[in-house]
Amino acid sequence: MEPSESRSKDDLILGIESSCDETAAAIVAGGRRILSSVVASQVEIHRKYGGVVPELASREHLRRIVPVVREAVEQAGVGLPDVDAIAVTQGPGLIGSLLVGVTYGKVLAMALGKPLIAVNHLEGHVHAVILEAQAAGRSVTLPAVCLIVSGGHTILYYVRAESENGVVRFSYSRLGGTRDDAAGEAYDKVARMLGLGYPGGPIIDRLAVHGNPKGVRFAEPKMKGNPFDFSFSGIKTAVLYQVRRSPELQEEIKVREEALARGERSADALRALSKPATLDMVASFQSAVVDNLVNRTVAAAEQAAVTTVLVSGGVAANSELRKTFEAEGKRRRIEVHFPSRALSTDNAAMIAAAGYPRYLAKEFEESTLNAEASLPLA
Ligand code: KG4
Ligand code: ZN
Repeated sequence: MEPSESRSKDDLILGIESSCDETAAAIVAGGRRILSSVVASQVEIHRKYGGVVPELASREHLRRIVPVVREAVEQAGVGLPDVDAIAVTQGPGLIGSLLVGVTYGKVLAMALGKPLIAVNHLEGHVHAVILEAQAAGRSVTLPAVCLIVSGGHTILYYVRAESENGVVRFSYSRLGGTRDDAAGEAYDKVARMLGLGYPGGPIIDRLAVHGNPKGVRFAEPKMKGNPFDFSFSGIKTAVLYQVRRSPELQEEIKVREEALARGERSADALRALSKPATLDMVASFQSAVVDNLVNRTVAAAEQAAVTTVLVSGGVAANSELRKTFEAEGKRRRIEVHFPSRALSTDNAAMIAAAGYPRYLAKEFEESTLNAEASLPLA
């Protein structure tokens, strides 16, 4: 079915997102037209710690939330009173970070006399794909299997939509997920171990094309039980052992870490300081992670007898993941949809889009709404 029917095409939803390390606000019209999408990234603040520091994240959200919302409204060319509802990420995420967005959303809704909508961050990632496909005039056939793959999540959902009196209701069932690290977390940890800086995904993505993906053999994780579960801690540990075994590699890592400390973190600079064997390891790591993600997702789609796969979250920006999904999709006659790179990572346009069906269904929150760090989607 087409999850795109809408009664009031131009109603404006202000989306607010603050679940992790991005302060974001966006205005989306009619659930599908992005008028603005502002994202204030905290990557520079967390870089020197090699990961997100929760206390620093919430402090930064507090500093940025007001200017970010103001900028989203200005860029959309509207005024705050023109907004029809406010959709805010309730969870899952870092509690201190979530609280900033939820509190600000509640206060704004109250001050403006507008309805407040609570959105699950994971549902936001699902809607990032649907939103962009629709904006590009592509219809998304549902039901679908959706892989959400980011620094915090690696999870597979079955997504369906039912239409009732012109209102579309989405529902989700969890098919599987990671038993240990999220895929993005594995990228970040491996990059850190190899002296490639933070965040790890984009740099590994760029360096992997210069290595041989079959250069190092990483064993497939052996797991009993649910065939749609993932595990990435084994491969991360395998990289750690390679580093421990090789004083030469340790020396090479030290040189890269010194370059990073001088601010030399471009892919070219780091590549020039990497031996072919290291580039092979990077390429092989990426290839193992990508194959794992694609194989399980496609198997889940086949078992669920759906012909649509949605892929979203920070790691969905990965070039190799996109290429492999596209090739495998073609081979198995499965449509694969990705958001653009900008909407793959955390943003508020996806929160506004996910809030829109709830807006039409008048599923509004009271001012007692609370942030929930482990809010499940299903
Ligand atoms: O969705 P996101 O912005 O935040 C979370 O909810 O986690 O995802 C961030 C994660 C990080 O782990 C980062 O290394 C990874 O996405 N990432 C990538 C790429 N770009 C970002 N991983 C692989 N390839 C990329 N191109
Ligand atoms: Zn996310």
